[in-house]
Amino acid sequence: MAATVIIGAQWGDEGKGKITDYYAERSDYIVRFQGGNNAGHTIKYQDEEFKLHLVPSGIFREGKKAVIGNGVVVDPKVLIEEIESLEERDIDTSDLILSDRANLIMPYHRAEDLLEEKLKGDLKAGTTKKGIGPCYSDKVGRFGIRVIDLYNPKSLRNKLEKVIPMKNKLFDAYDEDEEWDVEEVFQKYRDYGKKLEKHVEDTSVILNEALNQGEDVLFEGAQGTHLDIDHGVYPYTTSSNTIAGGACCGSGVGPREISSVLGIVKAYTSRVGTGPFPAELEGDLGEHIREKGGEYGTTTGRPRRVGWLDLVMLTFSARVNSFSGLAITNLDVLAGLDEVKICTGYRYEGKEIREFPADIEKLYDFDPVYESFEGWEEQDWDEIAEKGYEALPENAKEYLDYIERKTEVPIKHVSIGPKRDQTVEK
Ligand code: GDP
Ligand code: IMO
Ligand code: MG
Repeated sequence: MAATVIIGAQWGDEGKGKITDYYAERSDYIVRFQGGNNAGHTIKYQDEEFKLHLVPSGIFREGKKAVIGNGVVVDPKVLIEEIESLEERDIDTSDLILSDRANLIMPYHRAEDLLEEKLKGDLKAGTTKKGIGPCYSDKVGRFGIRVIDLYNPKSLRNKLEKVIPMKNKLFDAYDEDEEWDVEEVFQKYRDYGKKLEKHVEDTSVILNEALNQGEDVLFEGAQGTHLDIDHGVYPYTTSSNTIAGGACCGSGVGPREISSVLGIVKAYTSRVGTGPFPAELEGDLGEHIREKGGEYGTTTGRPRRVGWLDLVMLTFSARVNSFSGLAITNLDVLAGLDEVKICTGYRYEGKEIREFPADIEKLYDFDPVYESFEGWEEQDWDEIAEKGYEALPENAKEYLDYIERKTEVPIKHVSIGPKRDQTVEK
């Protein structure tokens, strides 16, 4: 298997956590490479539900290494709390490794996230308010504080002495009642550093050594392709490269090591946050899918917007990620509907459009074009999980065949429930 990358093909929450946990059985290392605690990955393990924000979803597989790569932005307080809460539930976290080069989310980043969203008005992305964007801005602006700085007091203080006065002036200029004290932040982050020290390593070296020895590495994407900072619906995106190429930058593993890229596709579309959504379903049908699919944000609890599956989005995702396979999730959620639709393109000024435009404001004016499918009945999904793919309802298989034909990417797995074993192989 060598190195496999798991990527959300839509706007996040496709079920990456579930599929990562499923794949982790055949992997030695499970690696987060971008994003931060804006992610919320749900895993059902031994009839318990876990919601992970920073720790890779491989943590439930004994003896596997869970790696937080250099491309992740880490809120150390959140990471410490997540480790503690896993330990309290008897999940061993001693195999968790944190990159010494990861950038840290600082208290001013969370405050800047709130301020920026306020200033952006209708251009706000509806962020998770975790400080993700401001932390990546400081990383690129080279004002960032990295994990390794926590172990070099002189360097940490020096960096804080440069950055904190800037932040204080910024908030003062906007009449915001926020101020940070260098010494206080210094002490707090040194304490975080002590708690995390046993996990900190050079993860690029570790991962490359593992690959050289023939071990299997699984990369767990966060967010989704259409939230990518370059390829997503900018500016209603997140602040990192969420696509497969991000796995290399965010881990220090070269592209020749990547052997497969699995796109995770929810059988319909969901979206938390603002921005255009051409195939969005409002009204009773949208409400039905939201309730049946439990479509409420794992990180923020916000109701997710839902819509039909959008092939324009999927073919785009297949292209920018070079997907070698797909996993379709939440197929069970669509059961019981008389009719199911797939958006195949958009109509705009008499023309049919099959590519996402760079000027995404146009998406608001595009009318979706749909292909209609006969629905399928509710099933005993556990029985189907035992019997395998062929036992799926015929109409559901037609729906899946159509996705496969149009994306030209083979479907490898179909998920028919949130639990680990509710997955069938195609
Ligand atoms: P992620 O961010 O991509 O890991 O996805 P989330 O965990 O945010 O959201 C996916 C939700 O769908 C979670 O509540 C999962 O437990 C659930 N889920 C995953 N796969 C399936 C499936 O095949 N069927 C159903 N009904 N729920 C699923
Ligand atoms: P997982 O990994 C869904 C969305 C936010 C907002 C935009 C920017 O669980 O799929 P940010 O806080 O990143 O600056 O917010 O991105 N967003 C997600 N939507 N799933 C996620 O993660 C998301 N992470 C961020 O709602 O629109
Ligand atoms: Mg999620």
